Amino acid sequence: MASLRFNIYHYVLFHAIFLLSSAGLSCGDEKQDLLKNLNAYRTLFLDLPAFTKNKKANCLANEIADRLDQPCDQTTRVDQIKLDSYADQLMDCTGTNHVTDAVLMPVCAADKADEVALLHNYTRRNQYKKSIKDSSYTGAGVGSNDNWMVVVLNKNTSTWSSSAGTNGLVSGAGAVSLFLGILFYLVL
Ligand SMILES: *[C@@H]1O[C@H](CO)[C@@H](O)[C@H](O)[C@H]1NC(C)=O
Ligand SMILES: *[C@@H]1O[C@H](CO)[C@@H](O)[C@H](O)[C@H]1NC(C)=O
Repeated sequence: MASLRFNIYHYVLFHAIFLLSSAGLSCGDEKQDLLKNLNAYRTLFLDLPAFTKNKKANCLANEIADRLDQPCDQTTRVDQIKLDSYADQLMDCTGTNHVTDAVLMPVCAADKADEVALLHNYTRRNQYKKSIKDSSYTGAGVGSNDNWMVVVLNKNTSTWSSSAGTNGLVSGAGAVSLFLGILFYLVL
């Protein structure tokens, strides 16, 4: 009985998020909507502070989305995606080519207008949920293309603070072990 009540409570709360978050003006920007919904989930469900929109995380999410042209659908399962230009993208956005204080969360989402399904893509995936629940992630950035939604979460470290300079240098460093510390799961 207690667990039934718990489930109903969460069901109602989950849908209340969308009533609340769509009560404002919908500008048709799915990236902004996703961040808003993730933040509603985080504050209402998890009782954690909202993610602050982080300029560098946003830069990285956008650069990754711009280059992520792998097709995806509900039948293909890929556990890991190799991004050849990740080192350069990271360097471009943060001024370093190796970080362990951020997490990349791409999902295959052709229908971004379905905000509930899209949020579920994040909150039902254990690896992603773990990061969303982790209070040490304080910032977020969102990028998208026709097939993908990419969320980057970052910790509150100097790498991601806006005062630490990015010089836009493009590094020629090889893409070796750059994925260390970064979870990169495909959501299907
Ligand atoms: C992810 O989102 C898509 C729509 O973009 C939806 O069709 C799919 O069912 C969602 N998957 C999960 C696990 O929520
Ligand atoms: C990040 O940390 C600094 C101090 O270390 C603090 O002033 C700031 O509010 C923190 N930002 C976030 C988003 O938690």
